[in-house]
Amino acid sequence: MDEKIEARKTEHIKIAEEEKVTSEKNFWDDVRLVHQAVPDIDFDSISTETKFLGKRLAYPIVISSMTGGTSRAMTINRNLAAVAEKFKIPMGVGSMRACIQDHSLSSTYSVINEFKVPVKFANIGAPQLVKQGKQPFTDSDIEYAFRLIDATFLVVHFNFLQEMVQPEGDHNARGVLKRLADISGSYPVIAKETGNGFSREACLQLKDAGVKAIDVGGLGGTSFAAIEYYRARNAGDSEKMSTGETFWNWGVPSPASIRFCQDLLPTIGSGGLRNGLDLAKALSLGATMGGFARTLLKGADASYEDIEAVLRQITRDLKITMFLTGSSSVDKISKARKLIFEPLKSWMEAYDDE
Ligand SMILES: Cc1cc2nc3c(=O)[nH]c(=O)nc-3n(C[C@H](O)[C@H](O)[C@H](O)COP(=O)(O)O)c2cc1C
Repeated sequence: MDEKIEARKTEHIKIAEEEKVTSEKNFWDDVRLVHQAVPDIDFDSISTETKFLGKRLAYPIVISSMTGGTSRAMTINRNLAAVAEKFKIPMGVGSMRACIQDHSLSSTYSVINEFKVPVKFANIGAPQLVKQGKQPFTDSDIEYAFRLIDATFLVVHFNFLQEMVQPEGDHNARGVLKRLADISGSYPVIAKETGNGFSREACLQLKDAGVKAIDVGGLGGTSFAAIEYYRARNAGDSEKMSTGETFWNWGVPSPASIRFCQDLLPTIGSGGLRNGLDLAKALSLGATMGGFARTLLKGADASYEDIEAVLRQITRDLKITMFLTGSSSVDKISKARKLIFEPLKSWMEAYDDE
């Protein structure tokens, strides 16, 4: 592989595990579900089953795209895939640029085929759809990535803030939407942010381009401006460090992004989910599923048992929240009574006058 990509991927994981890479505020704290002291349901009969784009799943949980391309990434993907099989939930691999450029790295992604993962997300970056310093992905590059993991959906990630902070970042976004519309004719595409969220305008553009669903990847959890800040610091690049600091808290908060998108397209609520309670909050705002990335990273890097324990806790806390809000099924959580506090409240009202 391109040595630069390999070093970058290793650094991203190390920094995400060891440094404070989250935005200053986690906006899930501004959503409060109201406790119902008389739920009148049996905890043991609560159903967490759900349907996402026609696929029946045991839990409304997505393992968000994170990695691939190195041997450590292969171990992480293997552990994640094993729990995806066990919990019958969808899983994404990280950006597949590495294996598109160097097929010898394919097994670090296709390792997930060793498990019965019910829904698999291939992953490519929006910046690579158009010409940068180098040539964009061709149709056959995309086909290669999609077939490699026998994917159900093609996730196209939008990470333009990260590209701005990265020393080696891609700067051209012109033509992405047009190319996305071509690709959406051939593959079921999910458009995903990586920590800065989608506005309603962006969601409308993506819907017009033909994407099937949105993964909001909003502000409140992992901040790629923060991750790139640490990389710039390690490289002694004070200009990029300063940009990372300035945009550390940039973006649309995850809960607001769900509110802006959920009536337009099926929506995965993600960005800053820490536990089953945050997940229930995302569902209560109209998300069809909730996506977890960094919360699962440390466990997946450690062992199958560790990651299984993290997911068991998330699913149990989801069920407890359902019980205490009187929600016997996933559909019913969207009716759960909730309060929205500032500053999220103002974000939520952004389009109310239009
Ligand atoms: C180490 C790491 C690597 C990531 N790599 C990718 C990637 O390759 N493709 C992608 O779409 N998102 C990637 N993400 C972004 C996550 O999928 C997610 O959108 C973001 O981290 C916000 O979720 P979180 O707050 O739960 O971490 C990565 C996240 C982390 C922590």
